Amino acid sequence: MKLLEERIKRDGQALSKHVLKVDSFLNHQIDPELMQEIGKEFANRFAEEGITKIVTIESSGIAPAVMAGLYLHVPVVFARKRKSLTLSEGLLTASVHSFTKNETNEISISNKYVQKDDHVLIIDDFLANGQAALGLIDIVKKSGASIAGIGIVIEKSFQEGAAELEKLGYRVESLARIAALNDGEVIFKNENVEELV
Ligand code: G4P
Repeated sequence: MKLLEERIKRDGQALSKHVLKVDSFLNHQIDPELMQEIGKEFANRFAEEGITKIVTIESSGIAPAVMAGLYLHVPVVFARKRKSLTLSEGLLTASVHSFTKNETNEISISNKYVQKDDHVLIIDDFLANGQAALGLIDIVKKSGASIAGIGIVIEKSFQEGAAELEKLGYRVESLARIAALNDGEVIFKNENVEELV
């Protein structure tokens, strides 16, 4: 998605060879108009799938997921990383280990909002090692619902998440695919392809 790639080039900061900072439009301050375009793009890519629900994880997955829900006209459920005061019964849970942060979270959603007749689109902001996406897949499977695919805003293709999910047979639609973060520069996967042609 060109608009997103341009924004990453302009405002993204490669903090190291592994971490991209995008606090100015995705992870802290949020650009609603960019999110709207992102939502529209996910909705177009999954338009023929008969999606009935979107599942994401707090916190940065929520904005793009809500915008996709707006265009697909379906509700959005976000998995919680902490226990909620009002949400305690009928919880579906999964364990998510973050290699980046070296911590494990128990994530949960209510079985009231994702059920076996649902056809789910999973959305998240980043795809790195794939642990969050695998946790969401685990939870959706526990609900008995089916999975149409996974929509990712920024995929770091040099980490194993995307390959892992595709190996498991899931359709992964990433709006920006980063091949490498080199000396503070972001290199997209399609830039490499163009160079090779
Ligand atoms: P994984 O789920 O793909 O295995 O990712 P990992 O454990 O490595 O990432 C843990 C958290 O760090 C996730 O956010 C993920 O979105 C985020 N993350 C991973 N790589 C990057 C990166 O290069 N840049 C940025 N900005 N974030 C990255 P989280 O802890 O759930 O945060 P939030 O959703 O509450 O903002």
